[in-house]
Amino acid sequence: MRNSGQGTVLVTGGAGFLGSHLCDRLVERGQRVVCLDNLATGRTENVRHLLDHPRFSLFLADVTDTWEIDEPLTAVFHLASAASPPDYQRLPVETLEAGSLGTRNALRCAKEHGARLVLVSTSEVYGDPREHPQRETYWGNVNPVGPRSVYDEAKRYAEALVMAHHRERLVDVGIARVFNTYGPRMRPDDGRMIPNFITQALSGRPLTVTGNGQQTRSVCYVADTVEGLLMLGDNEAPGPINIGSQEEVCVLTLAHFVRDFSGSRSEIEFIERPEDDPHYRKPDITKARAELGWSPHVRLEEGMRRTLAFFMERQTALTTGPGDDRPNPSRKETQDGVAHRAAQGLGRGDHA
Ligand SMILES: NC(=O)c1ccc[n+]([C@@H]2O[C@H](COP(=O)([O-])OP(=O)(O)OC[C@H]3O[C@@H](n4cnc5c(N)ncnc54)[C@H](O)[C@@H]3O)[C@@H](O)[C@H]2O)c1
Repeated sequence: MRNSGQGTVLVTGGAGFLGSHLCDRLVERGQRVVCLDNLATGRTENVRHLLDHPRFSLFLADVTDTWEIDEPLTAVFHLASAASPPDYQRLPVETLEAGSLGTRNALRCAKEHGARLVLVSTSEVYGDPREHPQRETYWGNVNPVGPRSVYDEAKRYAEALVMAHHRERLVDVGIARVFNTYGPRMRPDDGRMIPNFITQALSGRPLTVTGNGQQTRSVCYVADTVEGLLMLGDNEAPGPINIGSQEEVCVLTLAHFVRDFSGSRSEIEFIERPEDDPHYRKPDITKARAELGWSPHVRLEEGMRRTLAFFMERQTALTTGPGDDRPNPSRKETQDGVAHRAAQGLGRGDHA
């Protein structure tokens, strides 16, 4: 097994929701982590507790620019990309570039270091699926010019690029197709369903359900998703491999669940369904079970309890104390004492 509990790992997008939990687990199991992020949608706050750790460093850079890591790496986890629909629709070109130029740079880095590259792709490569549940063999149903295409097609291109490097240039790769993941450190305003429902429920505002709410999602708790990514990192399987929960629920049921679970008396309000919104989402995880020995363990009740606790704590901190940790791409993180190691040619480290 490569990379098991040893060596230095690069995590692009490591200051984001999923990336910061991955950094935590890598440091926890004894590895050194270089977290590369431009804070376009991530936050220093997510990794602040790691900043003084001797095995962690934050490298503020844009993954699409020219950068180098000057210590030997055993693995590169490539997560850098806007991920929530409002984020990627606000950053359409940047999202396409993170999937194309960013993936090219992550592959270049992995090849130079003889490291394994794990691409964190998405269930969105299946688009609005005609097959249910979705198996890795399904090619998808994606509108290439619709409002979601900047994200979906960026990831589809990234997968193609990764497989081409694997076949032609013998780069060691693993593609994870991650399904909806939720948990602490999601931004309350990131526009995804669960943070939306929780912030609406906690503030007593109506929970906004799109369409008639009968579309389904399978939501996986972040600790489970991260375990799947680590297992793929430690494996030699190229993938793609679905990582997601088998608990399929319709959106309206989820809204009721969040409302009741949080003790809120908010109403449910139906709003227009976004264009190309998928009708169904449920992974077939036979391959993840067989090739990685992975399956999720955290039930919705437990995951929601932990997520709700995070949002409530954060709300209390915001109302009782100073400070504002909302994302602000123009904020100069050097003010917080964060290392800003600009590489040659780094021109757009803090764009957006
Ligand atoms: N959370 C999910 O449900 C989910 C599902 C499927 C796939 N994913 C994938 O996981 C990854 C992380 O998603 P997330 O939910 O944590 O979102 P996020 O927005 O919290 O994290 C993305 C991170 O990437 C950084 N980033 C974006 N563009 C960058 C660039 N050009 N250079 C450097 N850093 C950049 C952001 O600042 C942020 O820290 C994404 O690649 C996403 O496609 C997430």
